[in-house]
Amino acid sequence: MSTTFQLDTATSRANPTPAPMKRLTVPAIRQRKKDGVTKEPIVMLTAYTARQAQLLDAHCDLLLVGDSLGQVIYGLPSSVPVTLDMMAAHGAAVVRGSYHAVVIVDMPFGSYEASPEQAFTNAARLLKETGCAAVKLEGGEAMAETVAFLTRRGIPVMGHVGLTPQAVNQLGGYNARGRTRAEAAKIVGDARALAEAGAFAIVIEGVVEPIAVEITAAVPCPTIGIGASAQCDGQVLVTEDMLGMFERVPRFVKVYENIAETIAEAAATYAREVRDRSFPGVEQTYQPK
Ligand code: KIV
Repeated sequence: MSTTFQLDTATSRANPTPAPMKRLTVPAIRQRKKDGVTKEPIVMLTAYTARQAQLLDAHCDLLLVGDSLGQVIYGLPSSVPVTLDMMAAHGAAVVRGSYHAVVIVDMPFGSYEASPEQAFTNAARLLKETGCAAVKLEGGEAMAETVAFLTRRGIPVMGHVGLTPQAVNQLGGYNARGRTRAEAAKIVGDARALAEAGAFAIVIEGVVEPIAVEITAAVPCPTIGIGASAQCDGQVLVTEDMLGMFERVPRFVKVYENIAETIAEAAATYAREVRDRSFPGVEQTYQPK
């Protein structure tokens, strides 16, 4: 099957080839885990642009418009400065570029922590302006009331426990979490609280493997691992990481391509051809009829 398709400029919707697929739904993802077992692991990647979404869509169950776009797209030092406007703009682009995967948009730091009401207002804005199906927010037990508030009001929520990058100023860095018994118990408790509050899935990031295994066995909803365990119900990576866009590669990332090298080589060839006037050639030049 073709992995690419056109945007219909009249409707801003994807025009798939060869045939439209029905978009997956949040309940369908939730039901992938039955009686504690997920036969078909859930595939999730980040996407920030329409074209990226087009290329990833057919291969993924979930596309996450992660607030990691702060570092990846905007060159920010962390996800803390990311705004709701950024998430809304990129979320809408990813929904326009996809027709199969469930699109989830991250709630940025400061847009949901103050109260369940604040979270509802901002999550509703993301759903309305982007067309995404769900939001993701970071934090465990402290966010359980908010997760329940949103899910009872029609907003599906994906939780995120373990290493929570928005809390980098409190954590002091991006090291793996759960190395002490107390911290491990807290992370497991966080995941249980989110599941009880109605989260349809939970990202487990940057934890020592036994914690991810314990949570996956303990909660009824699917777990999505990143730097966690192959035993999670699904996996997520930042797409640019697995494509080799950056020199710094976190230990938990497998690099499937070296896109940075390809881009640099193409730019070098273009620059050489501009300088020696071999570009544009005859094929790229308009002549009078
Ligand atoms: O922002 C993000 O990309 C994420 C994933 C790494 C899970 O939260």
